Amino acid sequence: MEEFVTLTYNGQEIKLPVVIGTEGEKAIDISGLRQDTGFITLDPGYANTGSCLSAITYMDGEKGILRYRGIPVEQLAENATFKETAYLLINGKLPNRDQLTRFSVMLNDNSLVHEDLKAFYQNFPRASHPMGILSSMVNALRSFYPELGTTEEEINSTMTRLLAKVRTMAAMSYKISRGHRVVYPRPDMTYCENFLNMMFDTPVKPYEINRAAVNALRVFWILHADHEQNCSTSAVRVVGSARVNLYAAISSGIAALWGPLHGGANQAVIEMLTAIQADGGDYKKAIERAKDKNDPFRLMGFGHRVYKTYDPRAKIMKKMCDELLDSLQIDDPMLDLAKELEEAACNDAYFIDHNLYPNIDFYSGIVLRAVGIPTNMFTVMFAIGRLPGWIAQWKESMDDPKWKICRPRQVYTGNLQYDFIPIHARI
Ligand code: CMC
Repeated sequence: MEEFVTLTYNGQEIKLPVVIGTEGEKAIDISGLRQDTGFITLDPGYANTGSCLSAITYMDGEKGILRYRGIPVEQLAENATFKETAYLLINGKLPNRDQLTRFSVMLNDNSLVHEDLKAFYQNFPRASHPMGILSSMVNALRSFYPELGTTEEEINSTMTRLLAKVRTMAAMSYKISRGHRVVYPRPDMTYCENFLNMMFDTPVKPYEINRAAVNALRVFWILHADHEQNCSTSAVRVVGSARVNLYAAISSGIAALWGPLHGGANQAVIEMLTAIQADGGDYKKAIERAKDKNDPFRLMGFGHRVYKTYDPRAKIMKKMCDELLDSLQIDDPMLDLAKELEEAACNDAYFIDHNLYPNIDFYSGIVLRAVGIPTNMFTVMFAIGRLPGWIAQWKESMDDPKWKICRPRQVYTGNLQYDFIPIHARI
């Protein structure tokens, strides 16, 4: 039976339909509100706004639940490959053997990038941030691979091309930034092995596959693969809604992810921990600063718009961080500092009252450090992981016949009309 919410204003009653999701989440459909009443709704930061119906990812911020297409992220982190996870997100179900083989072949076939792209990389100023470079280069792909097409097969090929090439491009940018020879992808390696090989293989020291590092990367990417309507995903959907090409939409997602409140937090956490170490390890000072409303400083890697409990991804990341460092026999004092900081913050009344817990970025930087990834590439690693989610969300929006150009309204608070003042008369 259809449900309604009744809004009463000045004696007028307006019936608004209730939309109920498969997990019982309830929303009030206000899409007809302005037309019927002249009202719009106001929700800065869209904290209470559902922008779409989506069948991709389910989150429960109170219970700390995250599922991709219904499967708990814990099970995927335990059992799946990143490739399977990408397929699941984009196509809605896990691939069978044939589908996985076809997908792998397509990823391999598309993993090389046009050699002319190298010239672009070489001409960025040395100090450029890898996220700025990646966002520009993904946008530039449209010029190198203009044949986008509209059939399902053509769209699949553009999506696979992106998944295959972005990983190559990320490793390539690292090699070029170091002035080293670019290492090409190899068909005999898995998605994760290939990336590490492209990053770390050199003519003088061939890369030896390290199982623990490969596994850490697999889990890291799976945990980042989608997170419903977060800032960068919303950017992809909003930009995509203007019907730009997929590369441009993903490029805007990468730009959004760069921000320190979003994906850039993984780099910011390490920078914060480094600063605390340089200051003699006094993490209590950082906690006091984070609580001070006159100080813009925040504890990076803490807090989340949706999770009001421990981020389920952070739980897995923390455990993996311990296991990885053990297995690589790395004694990283930063891990001890992070744990002390976490314990102190989680027992502090401010953090308890505000429901602030570690998020995925709190321990992920320590994992990436152990794998050998340079700090300024941490957010690029997040971007490679989030790519299947962005693509799946873009595809879902494009397949939705009701998907309109995204165009929020506003409540105007500026000047009332007044007349143009000639320059000689202006004060
Ligand atoms: N340190 C100190 N105080 C905080 C923090 C923090 N990290 N996060 C939130 N607060 C306080 C904030 O000051 C506010 O306090 P009050 O109500 O007293 O004014 C309250 O908690 C609510 O904060 P908010 O900014 O309204 O919350 P939000 O949902 O808009 O922001 C957030 C979410 C993730 C941007 C924020 O928690 C934050 O800035 N965290 C640090 C950056 C970070 O780790 N980002 C990674 C997020 S997870 C990866 C991803 O998916 O992007």
